[in-house]
Amino acid sequence: MTSTSSALIASDRARMAELLEHAPDTESVASFTPGPGIAKLDVSFDIEKMREALQVALTRTDWGGPVDDGFGAFSLTRRPGVEVETPNDLSGLFYTRVDDTYEEVPREERVDEFAFTEFVPRFEDLYFKEVWQTLSQIAPLGRTRVLSKGLYNCNSWHRDPEPRLHVPIISNPGSLFVVNHHVTHLPADGSVYFTDTRGYHTALNGGESERVHLVAALPQSNPTA
Ligand SMILES: [Fe+2]
Repeated sequence: MTSTSSALIASDRARMAELLEHAPDTESVASFTPGPGIAKLDVSFDIEKMREALQVALTRTDWGGPVDDGFGAFSLTRRPGVEVETPNDLSGLFYTRVDDTYEEVPREERVDEFAFTEFVPRFEDLYFKEVWQTLSQIAPLGRTRVLSKGLYNCNSWHRDPEPRLHVPIISNPGSLFVVNHHVTHLPADGSVYFTDTRGYHTALNGGESERVHLVAALPQSNPTA
């Protein structure tokens, strides 16, 4: 079915004039804007100490450093005494819509976020431990990781069983977080951001430099999915 009557064309012509009347805001997109599913918490951390901790942590992992493409990660928490992560531990259950059927499909297996109670011993002396302990007083934390997103890279469009807290360590204005219909930049200034990743979301790095966040899952006793 097509809708191309002259009345509709005239209506759209008038609408174009309205739409072009005001230039878009190009400044506020370089800062944080809260919205449904994304909020900034009251606590904040020392961003320089976060960056120093990252540099030291990288000398103790085989990750090597923030990546130019793809995805890099290392864990700050683990199941007590469990030294080796499974591939599933690095992602876990999520739901996604992948094609033009619009059908939602599950991927991977559920992870018991409540089980990740131990801070990884090799990072015990770093500022990350203090950050983790402080965040743990706000809400129970599950898997807590440092995640890097390469240039011009984005995650799948998906939803998780639980929300996340983000503490950006290194970022750029082209790094954005999207939850459902809301999108915002999360500046790396020591702030802590709640992202309700029970909604559909993705993160992307559309800048020309690295983006590294500390991300903590918030276990739910009655997960939505
Ligand atoms: Fe997610």
